[in-house]
Amino acid sequence: EKGGFATFMEKEIYDQPQAVADTLLGRSDAEGNLILDELRISEDELKSIRKIIVLACGTSSYAGMVAKYAIERWCRIPVEVELSHEFRYRDPIIDANTLVVSISQSGETMDTLMAVRYAKEQGARTVSICNTNGSTIPRESDAVLYTHAGPEIAVASTKAFLAQITAAYLLGLYMAQLTKKLYSQEIKDILADLAEIPAKVQQILDNASQIKDLARAMAEASSVLFLGRNVGYPVALEGALKLKELAYIHAEGFAAGELKHGPIALIDEGQPVFVVVPSPMDRHSLHAKVVSNIQEVRARGAKTIVVAEAGDETVKEYAEQVFYVPETQPMLMPLLTTVPLQIFACELATAKGYDVDQPRNLAKSVTVE
Ligand code: M6R
Repeated sequence: EKGGFATFMEKEIYDQPQAVADTLLGRSDAEGNLILDELRISEDELKSIRKIIVLACGTSSYAGMVAKYAIERWCRIPVEVELSHEFRYRDPIIDANTLVVSISQSGETMDTLMAVRYAKEQGARTVSICNTNGSTIPRESDAVLYTHAGPEIAVASTKAFLAQITAAYLLGLYMAQLTKKLYSQEIKDILADLAEIPAKVQQILDNASQIKDLARAMAEASSVLFLGRNVGYPVALEGALKLKELAYIHAEGFAAGELKHGPIALIDEGQPVFVVVPSPMDRHSLHAKVVSNIQEVRARGAKTIVVAEAGDETVKEYAEQVFYVPETQPMLMPLLTTVPLQIFACELATAKGYDVDQPRNLAKSVTVE
């Protein structure tokens, strides 16, 4: 059942090309029109949406952060992302023109379920992005967009995360199609790039030996920092969470721009810092800014480990190690840059002799508040 892998975690990391492909399957026609029948909210209702609130916990909330960048860019609708357990206990402003998108692998996370119920009571439309057919959150939501990652057994989420991001992109494209905020050619182009993602993830998996070697060499690290910016920021948070969960190593993810506002004080000789570098094609020209962050931490003694897009030669000079991922459009990069970080955490934890499928103190689905 582990498909020849030693652990479910490893199998699920290697399942990711399929998870993304299956989540895309059948959701657009040959003309590049999105077909999301399962949405079950009328087109008119969706067109009237003025605000989107994404609710989730843990890894799923990082998929929500990626969704925010994509939906705001493509649909020009404001998106807030909030941890479900925080959302419920303030007085959020919701009405019938608010779309609440919950993201949950299990569909049973109590914090998220309670938040969705609350949002419904307040009159919001609710959509669930979920990996588990027939689970409670999709059942109680107005509509569901299933991720087709297949059952995720390992406690730490991997393939569900990539599938959630994929589904969030589809939702964003669908809304952009309805509201005509993107030209149909733009939607087609993004869909074509998405269709290439599974093969690109496979390429990363096929060339994982460098990152695995690094992970084994770093088994004694006591703290690892992760920096990212824009869509790379949630990737940095996810890289840090995987390392905490699997290897019990202190790890923090930061928005790279925040470095000078405090975290740079943590940097001293030998501190490992992963940097998720934006595409050189990013339209906000963030690439140069993040490259200068690499220089700043390196000048203070950090051991810099960089995840960058293939062909990006500029980072080489400042990095101890560079892991290249295939090129794609900047918005889609999280589907690729996450993968080396997952492999790193899984391999490092395995080198330490830990059970990566059942990390201590954690449950696969958190059904208590
Ligand atoms: O099933 P859900 O997606 O609602 O779960 C949310 C979190 O509990 C989950 O992502 C958790 O953070 C994982 N341990 C991450 O690896």
